[in-house]
Amino acid sequence: MRSDYIIRPAAPTDLDRLVALVLALQRHVEMSDPALWRLTEQAQKDLPERLAARLDDAVTRILVAEHRRDGVVGVLVGRVMADERYIPARMGFIEQVFVAEGHRRQGVGVRLVAEICRFFAERGVDDISLRYAVGNEGAVRFWAALGFAPRIVTAGTTRQALAARLGTFIAPNAGSAAETPDVPGKTV
Ligand SMILES: CC(C)(COP(=O)(O)OP(=O)(O)OC[C@H]1O[C@@H](n2cnc3c(N)ncnc32)[C@H](O)[C@@H]1OP(=O)(O)O)[C@@H](O)C(=O)NCCC(=O)NCCS
Repeated sequence: MRSDYIIRPAAPTDLDRLVALVLALQRHVEMSDPALWRLTEQAQKDLPERLAARLDDAVTRILVAEHRRDGVVGVLVGRVMADERYIPARMGFIEQVFVAEGHRRQGVGVRLVAEICRFFAERGVDDISLRYAVGNEGAVRFWAALGFAPRIVTAGTTRQALAARLGTFIAPNAGSAAETPDVPGKTV
């Protein structure tokens, strides 16, 4: 039930739960595409300190969804980014959102987004961006339901796969200009 959850800014006492939820999100994203970048063990160890610092960061808002029985079951991290070279000069970035299994499809995600939207509005932000992994179907559907559409696509491959592809375009013995200096009489 909607009234079973409250949405509020995270407090230092939520830190353990925040770390658990952010790591669960990381695992979820990694599972959606094993080729995606993974978090090192060191970065996982550093996470409590990093999150604690962000609780004090004026341009960041960490929100939690607290269930009356199960405690903190959802998190959203949003940030205001400013760059005067662009119009608009400010944008809101939703960095992370995660709702624990068993609490999904009850409107918790939408309520977290609604609350970060209020934070962005207070800071004069009109444009909101986020990233999600292509294979993360739940996220794709959730963001599409909220009207988010791809505007910039980040595409990737490995260098080895790229080299193999390039080989289908460039004959194996055709080196680059740097490798084949213009030697009189030499045929490439
Ligand atoms: C994505 C996520 C945050 C959504 O949270 P949630 O609390 O379940 O979302 P809501 O209940 O507010 O859903 C709102 C609407 O989004 C859509 N939606 C959400 N999850 C969906 C899913 N798995 N499949 C299809 N539509 C979905 C629906 O339209 C839903 O409305 P409805 O339930 O009335 O049909 C949650 O599924 C989650 O934590 N997933 C794992 C982590 C993740 O992928 N995070 C996003 C990384 S960018």
